Amino acid sequence: MALTPGRVLCKAAGARTGNGGRNRIVVTTDSMDMDAFTYRNGELCAEGVALRALADQHGTPLYVYSQTHLQTQYRTLAQAMRAVKPLICFSVKANSNGAVMRTLLDEGSGLDIVSGGELYRARRAGADPARIVFAGVGKTADEIRYALRAGILFFTVESEPEARRISACAVETGTIGRIAFRINPDVDPQTHKYISTGKKENKFGLDAERTLKAYALAAQLPNIEIAGLHMHIGSQILTAQPFHDAVSIVREFCRTLKTLHPTFRYLDIGGGIGIRYKAADQPLDPATYAARVVPLLEELGLQIVMEPGRYLCGNAGVLVCRVQYVKDNAFKKFVVVDAGMNDLIRPSLYQAHHDILSVAEGRGVIHGDLVGPICESGDFLAADRDLPEVGEGDLLAVTSAGAYGFAMASTYNSRPLVAEVMVNGDRAWVVGQRETWEDLVRREPLPATA
Ligand SMILES: Cc1ncc(COP(=O)(O)O)c(C=O)c1O
Repeated sequence: MALTPGRVLCKAAGARTGNGGRNRIVVTTDSMDMDAFTYRNGELCAEGVALRALADQHGTPLYVYSQTHLQTQYRTLAQAMRAVKPLICFSVKANSNGAVMRTLLDEGSGLDIVSGGELYRARRAGADPARIVFAGVGKTADEIRYALRAGILFFTVESEPEARRISACAVETGTIGRIAFRINPDVDPQTHKYISTGKKENKFGLDAERTLKAYALAAQLPNIEIAGLHMHIGSQILTAQPFHDAVSIVREFCRTLKTLHPTFRYLDIGGGIGIRYKAADQPLDPATYAARVVPLLEELGLQIVMEPGRYLCGNAGVLVCRVQYVKDNAFKKFVVVDAGMNDLIRPSLYQAHHDILSVAEGRGVIHGDLVGPICESGDFLAADRDLPEVGEGDLLAVTSAGAYGFAMASTYNSRPLVAEVMVNGDRAWVVGQRETWEDLVRREPLPATA
């Protein structure tokens, strides 16, 4: 999030604060650094609510989401892409909280899912299945049948055997499986290798030549409708060029596929728009992105689908944690907090950077590691970094934690899943209850004692 004290960070495209205008909100339509977390009276706040108050009321670790930020991001992207009127399908894997989903659904979003569980969550949140696309390399027959019966818009298909399986499930359920093969355009998205998905060495999609053959095969399969083409080249992409390159490649395929298959009408250009994690990051502005891709899409005559995840929710969330101990050894200082890699795994998994802010403004700086309580050396939230000078009991906020944060959390070390709170203006409400120790063992019947 890269917050600097005193900076106006909460910008909203025509968003209302609901608190009589006390929030410092700048109205803009093409903001690229929309941030809902700012210091007021020496306290870090989510919109109009002090994080300290939320931590005291709900305990820590605690995820806090800004509803205004979610709305603003959605509106900004929709506005930037308005020339092609895309169906924006929020990528649920980034944050599958029902209230986050509902907020975006209310904005007009569709959803991009990758499992039966996500479809279940989506339907529970009130999503229209006809605005849901289903991706992923390993869909099971059960998941496919569930999605077919629900009537989703289309499956993005990653292999020929998957197309055959969808066909068989569609015959069995008396439905039609609409499909869009995922093409791997072999472009370098210049991002971390774990979140690069559109190069030929990645497991995702089919190469160009193979894709055309796969469509020919699919055209012969019963109960299959060729609906469109899908691509997704990676995540946290900070320049428009890789998107431009990839769309340039796939649009030629679209022209061919349109002439071969009369039902071909969707081009899904995936997600991947990068956001600001630290001050030096130049996030990809939707207007810049749109300027490079819209001209390529406009005359295709296809319904464009997008699948942003991180862009919509990444900077909508922070993880608030409390300092337990400050310790040092001969080499280093360690700030030990009550949040660990089980709550936010991105630093351990991808060496991801999250800015760390003191909830109380104006702390000095120390150098060291911010670590959690998990019994792993890889359990850190920030390694070898300048950190706020804090002591036992102080609160810290791990910023830009709204995407792939709670969604990737686990109960490793038997640590219950943490609570989640949504804020809008001066209002805050629980959108995810903290698990209890009883929750941890609920699904484990003990063997009978002798
Ligand atoms: C197929 C697909 N679509 C969309 C996304 C969302 O990506 P992002 O959060 O970078 O927008 C992903 C992320 O991995 C993905 O694999």
